[in-house]
Amino acid sequence: MPPPVPITPAGPAVIDTALTDTAWPDTTVTDTARALVADDKGLLAIDESIPTCNKRFAQLAIPQTEQARRTYRELIVTTPQLGESISGVIVCDETIRQRTAHEVPFLSVLRDAGIATGIKVDLGATPMAGHRGETVTEGLDGLRARLAEYRQLGAGFAKWRAVFTIGAATPSRVCMIANAHALARYAALCQEAGMVPVVEPEVLMAGEHTLSRCGRVTEDVLRLVFDQLEEQGVVLEGMLLKPNMILPGRDCLIQDPVQAVADATRTCLRRAVPAAVAGIVFLSGGQSGDLATIRLAAVNDGTGSPLPWPVAFSFGRAIQQPALTIWDGRDANVTRAQQAIQRRVTANRNARRGTDFE
Ligand code: 13P
Repeated sequence: MPPPVPITPAGPAVIDTALTDTAWPDTTVTDTARALVADDKGLLAIDESIPTCNKRFAQLAIPQTEQARRTYRELIVTTPQLGESISGVIVCDETIRQRTAHEVPFLSVLRDAGIATGIKVDLGATPMAGHRGETVTEGLDGLRARLAEYRQLGAGFAKWRAVFTIGAATPSRVCMIANAHALARYAALCQEAGMVPVVEPEVLMAGEHTLSRCGRVTEDVLRLVFDQLEEQGVVLEGMLLKPNMILPGRDCLIQDPVQAVADATRTCLRRAVPAAVAGIVFLSGGQSGDLATIRLAAVNDGTGSPLPWPVAFSFGRAIQQPALTIWDGRDANVTRAQQAIQRRVTANRNARRGTDFE
């Protein structure tokens, strides 16, 4: 018969200092997160999926080929002085592997301009079973291995977008919880891989809802997202939040003025976003370039009480749209298209300093 196992009386928990002294995550992510929102710079999102990019090309009768997408993205990443206003560019899987016409990897072009490369790692929003009109974003299976590869390629940060539609009965609580849970799982995996997660819960502009409804829904979504981030051990100082601004629906009869948008946006973020978050980088969500910039400036206007985080931008369409229209698939228009990008990124950098941005 084996000797009885001695029973140790319960005492104070023994703290393993070797474990608790190990910073989780390492300082790479907190340093990178801070750097991405430093110096009034912001992010440029050019990570449209192949179908989305093709759709935008089709509207301008630009060929929907890999070659055309490569040429367009080369135009953007080689824009002169891009690094004066842009700290990071978010690309998709196709773009991160592409090179310029002179065979220089896009990643190297960006690095030489002092710009970090980010990678969109979600695999898109798919219909949520049993919840008509709602989606859940997929892409967690195999994500650890994909992040390791992107890190190896040189990506310093990542992006995952969840989408919420405002309707009579949406977004449902279960849709918000499912997406918040996935965002937090993604964010934790990013930090484990030494990459900064950009956490993007987007409440869409589509619909007839009012500004205040958008504010209430966004606040609910953000609270659930931060509950999950906390629950899953994500370090807030090592992440960026990419939210929508608080806007009336595109089809709402009352289109509120800039100051009302800025006030509602500041109120919502203040209520729902912990001060420890490294920074806020707005998506543009279909706003025109000018309007997105003016509203960013109003949110940053110093006349309100100070906000606890740097408030920057991570615009896609609001930076690219004028340039894409000017380029129109023609080499002869590249310089003018790049000038259009320069105008937009400079205006957005200036907007981080408040309303006096022209
Ligand atoms: P928009 O600024 O066009 O909304 O794009 C930002 C983005 O990255 C969407 O995921």
